[in-house]
Amino acid sequence: MRVSAEEASHLLRQGHVVGIPTETVYGLGASIFNPKAIADIFTLKGRPADNPLIIHLAHPDELLQFIERPLPQLDVLTSTFWPGPLTIVLPVHSEKVHSSVRAGLPTAAFRLPDHPIAKRVLELAGPLAMPSANISGRPSSTSYLHVEEDFGGQFPVVDGGVCRCGLESTILYCTGGHWQVIREGALPRSAFADVLGYTPEAHHPLVENSHLEDGVIGKQKKAKPLCPGQMYRHYAPKAVLKLTNLIPEGGIVVGFNGRSYPNGCTLFSLGDLNNPQDVAHNLYRVLRDLDAKGISEAWVDIDFPNEGILATVHERLRRAST
Ligand code: TXA
Ligand code: MG
Repeated sequence: MRVSAEEASHLLRQGHVVGIPTETVYGLGASIFNPKAIADIFTLKGRPADNPLIIHLAHPDELLQFIERPLPQLDVLTSTFWPGPLTIVLPVHSEKVHSSVRAGLPTAAFRLPDHPIAKRVLELAGPLAMPSANISGRPSSTSYLHVEEDFGGQFPVVDGGVCRCGLESTILYCTGGHWQVIREGALPRSAFADVLGYTPEAHHPLVENSHLEDGVIGKQKKAKPLCPGQMYRHYAPKAVLKLTNLIPEGGIVVGFNGRSYPNGCTLFSLGDLNNPQDVAHNLYRVLRDLDAKGISEAWVDIDFPNEGILATVHERLRRAST
């Protein structure tokens, strides 16, 4: 059910969960100061309780009340990339961020979205926890219709059009004074080179021992993933996706305009590879279209460059297929 930004803010202040558009994907918003509303997010999505949420803010200054200490180059990162599709994980005062938001970690993730409706709602309703507005494991939502598809026609959502980026924010995490990308996203890793003086590496090993406040078992710390969400199957339609360089005849293909595929193939197009941003923009809609058409199996043409924003598209397709 479509609601205005003002109605959404009112509902949020009353402790409801509401679908909110951002420039990356739609979010499922709830006040970070209302543990019951936060619990509702986990229930609605079917999200594991050990997967923390991103806190969305209206102004960079709001960050200061939460964080325990500033990290190197934090100012330049926020002044360059906020508002925008960058999420930053920071150590927080534990009493300032309810443990359910951060899944018991000593850190929390923060972002300032760059979408007029998200900004307006955050101004009116205060800081919001917002995971992507999809049932856990499903493709994210890039239009209000996707939110209704997953949560029903009566679920309140603000219609902010189709998301400009179409992929989630990039997440940065700092260890030993060095920033790493713990989730690839709408900002390619190369975007940070000028600002940081280096290109942050993608953190693929899933665990780091020092990341945990509550994980001491005997003398050994229990290992936990740097980005808990990356442990789970994600972004996946119901269809089985098979990644390949060699599309067989007669198959359903997730591929690209301007390519010729074998006889009898049906193309679900991600767009034109000369326009990588458009490919990113179309990805989740195409994965959802497969479900809408009742497709049970599709071949994915992965013969495209693994760089820039397309590296994120590769990563999402790999996850959607596992
Ligand atoms: O673009 C986005 O980031 C969207 C829009 C709505 O802002 N939100 C989004 O949220 O993608 P979600 O919940 O689908 O993904 C958040 C990711 C999860 O993988 C989670 O594990 C990670 O952020 N995360 C959150 N807090 C963290 C923390 N303290 N340390 C490490 N990873 C964290
Ligand atoms: Mg998500």
